[in-house]
Amino acid sequence: MNSIVSTSPVRVSLKGRDLVTWLDYSTEEVHELLSLAQYLKKNPYSKVLEGKTLGMIFEKSSTRTRVSFEAGMLQMGGHAIYLNARDIQLGRGESIADTARVLSSYVDGIMIRTFETEKVTELAKYASVPVINGLCDTYHPCQALADVLTILELAGTLKGLKVVYTGDGNNVAHSFMILCAKLGMDVVVSCPVGYEPDKEIVGKTVELAGMNGGSFTLSYDPVEAVKNADIVYTDVWASMGQEEEAVKRLKDFKPYQVNEQLLQHAAPQVKFLHCLPAHREEEVTAAVIDGPCSAVFQQAENRLHVQKAILQSLFV
Ligand code: CP
Ligand code: NVA
Repeated sequence: MNSIVSTSPVRVSLKGRDLVTWLDYSTEEVHELLSLAQYLKKNPYSKVLEGKTLGMIFEKSSTRTRVSFEAGMLQMGGHAIYLNARDIQLGRGESIADTARVLSSYVDGIMIRTFETEKVTELAKYASVPVINGLCDTYHPCQALADVLTILELAGTLKGLKVVYTGDGNNVAHSFMILCAKLGMDVVVSCPVGYEPDKEIVGKTVELAGMNGGSFTLSYDPVEAVKNADIVYTDVWASMGQEEEAVKRLKDFKPYQVNEQLLQHAAPQVKFLHCLPAHREEEVTAAVIDGPCSAVFQQAENRLHVQKAILQSLFV
């Protein structure tokens, strides 16, 4: 895992950088990306990526990530190539290192959705163009940037908000807690015993929260966790690759379901977030996700705007 970059008072160019995890970015850099995303949401079309190509390797399914990256490239005058890992030689054993070197001679950046983080870091090591993590088993950084942009739009501020993630301590939870701590929020993760976020990431999140005036709490009690929450966030109980654990997980996570009863303990203005895809009546009831406090489609739309900010910042 890479070390944390300290916050610099000087505006730093992100050109040529990889995005594997927000642990590698300063608070100031994240704020710059958020500002650019807000600008791009109001000014969607440009030629800033004219002639540029993004290669997108997918080893797992995707709707939002695939379409928002592709549409985002097009809206900025560029082009994206969808590469299903099964159809390229990577799926037949060609190494990540060779794939990285070859693709770098054709495209201006590579996005990868895969299993192990090591595959993303290996790709970044051998690619001479920026590599963007489009989800791995440990992180989902693009999602987290869309999450905090949505929270900023909903609440008008970030610092000091109480944001609660309830459910599996997974890739989405990791990136969300890191980024929220980095931005000075009070972060609570509520999960069953045995489904906690990674210990090392918890340690870094605690450190980041301390540095940025926020806090991090791990709670096994979902009711206690959501008390006065401004934001309640959940994700599926069985992620891609965990399909065979789904039945056991349904039972283990049941008390952590986001429903109207649970939200009664949150702040009156609470907003509900979910990265999608969602399983109604499992991690969230239809009454909540389709109800007045849900902001999940605004959140999904924001994937487009933040990804464009990431692409523009890393490419030019
Ligand atoms: N939230 C998210 O990453 O969705 P997709 O799996 O559809 O890309
Ligand atoms: N945690 C989920 C997120 C999907 C966008 C998964 O990895 O399947």
